[in-house]
Amino acid sequence: MGIDARGHIISTDSNEAATALSAAIEAFAARQSIAASHMQKAIAADPECAFGQAMMGIMLLGARTTALREQAKQAMVAAEKHSQQVSTREKQYVKALQHTYAGQLEDAVRCYEAVLAEHPTDLLALVFLQSELFWLGDMVWTERVSAQVAPHWNADVPGYTAFLAIRAFDLEENNRFAEGEQVTQEALKLNPADVWGAHAFAHIMLMQNRIDEGIAWMDERQSLWDDANQMQYHLAWHHCLFLGERHQHEKMLAIYDERIRNRDHALCAAMPDLYIDLQNGSSLLWRLEQAGVDVGNRWQELADVCAPRVNDMSNPFTSAHFALVLAANEQFDACDELIAAMESFANDTNHDLALRYRKAALPAAKAAIAHRKGDHHGVIQQLKPAQQDLWNMGGSHAQQDLYYQIWADSAAKQGDKKAYADLMHVIEKIGFVEPTARIAYAQA
Ligand SMILES: [Fe+2]
Repeated sequence: MGIDARGHIISTDSNEAATALSAAIEAFAARQSIAASHMQKAIAADPECAFGQAMMGIMLLGARTTALREQAKQAMVAAEKHSQQVSTREKQYVKALQHTYAGQLEDAVRCYEAVLAEHPTDLLALVFLQSELFWLGDMVWTERVSAQVAPHWNADVPGYTAFLAIRAFDLEENNRFAEGEQVTQEALKLNPADVWGAHAFAHIMLMQNRIDEGIAWMDERQSLWDDANQMQYHLAWHHCLFLGERHQHEKMLAIYDERIRNRDHALCAAMPDLYIDLQNGSSLLWRLEQAGVDVGNRWQELADVCAPRVNDMSNPFTSAHFALVLAANEQFDACDELIAAMESFANDTNHDLALRYRKAALPAAKAAIAHRKGDHHGVIQQLKPAQQDLWNMGGSHAQQDLYYQIWADSAAKQGDKKAYADLMHVIEKIGFVEPTARIAYAQA
């Protein structure tokens, strides 16, 4: 029997497995790339550890690709087989994996909630819960949970920095910027290299239009994130958002090639089609082209990995980005195939994501394609009726903003002042401070 850093039971007879799992939890919560090798070590040391297999399965499904479902299923089968004698808490992880695999994602979240009700310092449950709810678009739910467990956390609890970073991001996405900043600064004081804390602060600065401060801050810090998982690419994306506001396009392209889509970089080489990387890359290329920059053959590089995945309904926000990429690369047949697959999934399944595809990802994907075709009336026809529902595609306000920028561009090109004014009202309600000061909305 082992324990994690906060004393929660890990049922295994192997000290090596327990040690490796404990290290994997800490590394995963800190968004460090080494988490994966700790996991492999743990599973190799004890393939009969139900908790380890459940964690492995949930992490594999967390990569949001159908390519890893078979491996996740094997982990689930192993976890089920060896879960009779483990703690109630560990059984909840096995259940969470079963629900996630079946597409009952809200039920999986309820399992993490049940764990946290009994074990409020179970950091892994909190990380999984926030991640799942983030991609379900439900940041109100995750904020509620992090608030409930907050009284149990303090500087004496291992992993406190990771907790603070989670809490800060919950506050930020609920537009409680001042509180979020206070919490994330506490995290960064304890660990200046904390990736998730830095990420929360990058969001706060963007939402508050603190562009020059954002550039300076990211310039100074970026070398601290070299050990991070793909979050280091996502932080580079945040860096570029600030740079774009100051027309620093050459620097954006350099960061794009070196840190966002560098196929020679170890993480990108190992998994060139990770969903968040494709979102980062495509939304930046779109912004660069909007600014009149020639992005060369970069769309092609993205399209090569997106095109084989038009039937992959693992994540609504990613599918909406596939539309952006394939349309930009003028693969309109593949766009049709993607939309057909999304429509079929949205209508025929009781998967928790089906509703999100129907309400949000489909209008967003169709709008991205219409925009590329110059059908600006079509863009507005897709997005305007969906305006209350677009959050369902998942992702942050900063990420979802891409589709509002598409909408704004089409409204401007249509010369529709009323549509533009209505849209600016929507953007302000989302929480962006002074949106008209930003390039995408300057025409307001
Ligand atoms: Fe972000």
